[in-house]
Amino acid sequence: MSERTKIVLDESKLPRAWYNINADMPVPPEPVLHPQTLEPVTPDFLSVLFPMSLIMQEVSTEPYIEIPEPVREVYRLWRPTPMFRARRLELALDTPAHIYYKYEGVSPVGSHKPNTAVPQAFYNKEAGTKALTTETGAGQWGSALAMACNFFGLDLEVYMVKVSFEQKPYRRILMESYGAQVFPSPTEHTQYGRSVLAQTPDSPGSLGIAISEAVEVAATSGGVKKYSLGSVLNHVLLHQTVIGEEVLQQMEMAGEYPDIIIGCTGGGSNFGGFTFPFLRENFKNGKNTKVIAAEPAASPSLTKGKYAFDYGDTAKMAPIVKMHTLGHSFVPPTIHAGGLRYHGMSPQVSALVEHGYVKARAVPQLDTFKAAMTFARSEGIIPAPEPTHAIAVAIEEALKCKESGDAKVIAFNLCGHGHFDMAAYDTYLKGNLEDYDYPEAAIEAAMAELPQVG
Ligand SMILES: Cc1ncc(COP(=O)(O)O)c(C=O)c1O
Repeated sequence: MSERTKIVLDESKLPRAWYNINADMPVPPEPVLHPQTLEPVTPDFLSVLFPMSLIMQEVSTEPYIEIPEPVREVYRLWRPTPMFRARRLELALDTPAHIYYKYEGVSPVGSHKPNTAVPQAFYNKEAGTKALTTETGAGQWGSALAMACNFFGLDLEVYMVKVSFEQKPYRRILMESYGAQVFPSPTEHTQYGRSVLAQTPDSPGSLGIAISEAVEVAATSGGVKKYSLGSVLNHVLLHQTVIGEEVLQQMEMAGEYPDIIIGCTGGGSNFGGFTFPFLRENFKNGKNTKVIAAEPAASPSLTKGKYAFDYGDTAKMAPIVKMHTLGHSFVPPTIHAGGLRYHGMSPQVSALVEHGYVKARAVPQLDTFKAAMTFARSEGIIPAPEPTHAIAVAIEEALKCKESGDAKVIAFNLCGHGHFDMAAYDTYLKGNLEDYDYPEAAIEAAMAELPQVG
């Protein structure tokens, strides 16, 4: 295996089950609270938004949940995804480290997001749902759900954060090609969207606002439409563990085991999917891999946020969860990694960081694009702006190995390509890309609005 660059699994090795970290969490999960009563939610409240099968997955403590065959059948269009040994990057950095990356950009829409879009569309179809609503930041999630809804015969409305809608017109066209309707959020056609526009007519939007709009449309549809979320929730991270289960097999084929693994975090789904199977090995099988979450310095929920109960959306319609948050009313600066512009974080990832099982690191925007150029010019792939955060941390760790002489094994998740992000690369190459200062005053103001949970 030592000369191998691509580590490719046969289709027969496609995982048959997702891994549920709730079965092995060293700390018990906190309850999910109702946004008005602040009491633990009932399945009835959640069933306005989600089919019962997904609600049961959300609260399950079974270690493995079987992947339904119709989902595996769609997964086989691009899964198992390849893993690469980044030999040319190692040479460029002149490091003794062995660097590996899992490449989720080979999915038809270019990211890890279909890993959960496909089962969410499947379970909704099975439950008789006619249409879904959702938000999207960078457009990756919206594209994934648009493809999945098209496969399973569901209609889809996408509320796309306005700044991304304007930066990424081709993502909108991709979603429309699969048959979805796409609106720049905040819109005039939800009550919440209208209230935001009345206060801030030129609002760039945020994931928190777009979630509120999509939730409002589903909740007021009389049961015709359900809502689908592309990150944060337990069932979403569960579906993404197909990534890490494949990587465990691929590392074994490579004859190595990672010392350090890294993923970028927006709401935590590609990170959880990549790292949770390795955390299981840490918790249960005596492994000791260091796990690092890489987040943007402009929206630093894990490194600068508070571990507290907060709303998942801006309008306070979504359930309250305990997570690292910058405050639900915080609108992050308009960095190009649109998928990382979220005020909160997955409760599972937050708990793991809070209790020291996962380390978090914040990376400024310019450093991420510099890392992206080093990566693209050695490995050839133009990464999406989100995983450039993981690449920057991987390079940092590899350069530490250069100083120490350690040949550590470093693996990261390259969760998407950047083919629809050329405007961001153009801005960087022209020297016009900026770093944002840590938005301290805005975060402080938003923190004052956290719900007072006893
Ligand atoms: C390519 C890509 N990576 C990462 C993210 C962040 O989401 P998550 O933290 O759930 O993986 C997004 C979200 O849109 C994305 O499109």
